[in-house]
Amino acid sequence: MSLSMTHDAPLAPYTTLALGGAAERLVVAQDDATLRDALRWAQEYGVSAHLLGGGSNVVVPDEGVPGLVVHVATRARVARREAGQVEVKVAAGEPWDELVEWAVSEGLAGIECLAGIPGQVGATPIQNVGAYGQEVSETIVRVEVLDRKTLETSTLPASACGFGYRDSAFKRAGAAGAARYVVTHVTFALTPGGAPALRYAELTRAVPADASLAEVRDAVLALRRAKSMVLPPHAAPNDPNLRSAGSFFTNPVVDDAQAADVARRAIAAGLVPDAGAMPSWPSGPGRTKLAAGWLVERAGFAKGTRRGHVGLSSAHALALVHHGGGTTSALLALADEIVRGVEERFGVVLEREPRLLGVDG
Ligand code: EPU
Repeated sequence: MSLSMTHDAPLAPYTTLALGGAAERLVVAQDDATLRDALRWAQEYGVSAHLLGGGSNVVVPDEGVPGLVVHVATRARVARREAGQVEVKVAAGEPWDELVEWAVSEGLAGIECLAGIPGQVGATPIQNVGAYGQEVSETIVRVEVLDRKTLETSTLPASACGFGYRDSAFKRAGAAGAARYVVTHVTFALTPGGAPALRYAELTRAVPADASLAEVRDAVLALRRAKSMVLPPHAAPNDPNLRSAGSFFTNPVVDDAQAADVARRAIAAGLVPDAGAMPSWPSGPGRTKLAAGWLVERAGFAKGTRRGHVGLSSAHALALVHHGGGTTSALLALADEIVRGVEERFGVVLEREPRLLGVDG
């Protein structure tokens, strides 16, 4: 096995935040064999291995990442007809947005609302990527994984992936947890000639009821562009919020009683006239999803707030941005300040969405 390994490799260029230190060692895996070899090497030498995909949902510590970082750069896409659907098996390193573009151009429905999301296909099942009323769990039929211990591949049906809001079994400890598996391929079942998903109020307002897949994709890209939630080539020229990891916090899902308490606090603070004016969505029996961006803004963190070289996006309070010359510790300090501020005002503890490389599982 000859493994090409770079020592002390800066990781900032591999991330959309463009922050953080170096990997002690870096392997760029362009095929599955290299991915397996890298994991085997780490196992043999007792070194921890950390997987890096598109770098759009990850924060790299300033002190860097000890051990081995494996950047997944595998490419492949194979489509076949299967019982009236088109099943497309995609390598983990394929850019997600290119898959959406292809699906829409082929008239295949199922992922059109997920246009413009940065990052790679292999990361999508891990946090069950979603936007504008659609989630990848709706179309994923199976996920091929590499067992970090045995280095064997296996195929998990969607039912074994434990999908939830921004969640899956891959994220949690346990049988299919991050410590165990590396995603190598994801298979999606898309619907030829299917209608686009028009479920998110903001999106349904933006397109006619009989909109085509392409119109929905364009509308999603425009909405994301207005929120600085896209990268080039979709971003607005001179977008000041380009260096970000998208939503920095997940939307809190709380029990209904806590949601009512948050609304009471918001009314008492004069932020809304009544509970109905606070954005929230039913999220399963007895549960309510709150809008983290709304909570952040109403806790006193206005869009565009700056702390030196980092700050809040001027287009969306949920995205933390790096203006250049900053540090991860400054970014995380701002994140902590926001978590404390939101907790003080609303009694809700926000959870970070991007993974801290080398620290989180
Ligand atoms: N809001 C504010 N201030 C802000 C931002 C939002 O008050 O600065 C309010 C909005 O007015 C709205 C509510 O919060 O009432 C929700 O905002 P938005 O529709 O922008 O969606 P979001 O809940 O903030 C989620 C996802 C995004 C996804 C959009 C669209 C999470 C954590 N984020 O954002 O995903 O694009 O919905 O579906 O679930 C990501 O995960 O990185 C991401 C960008």
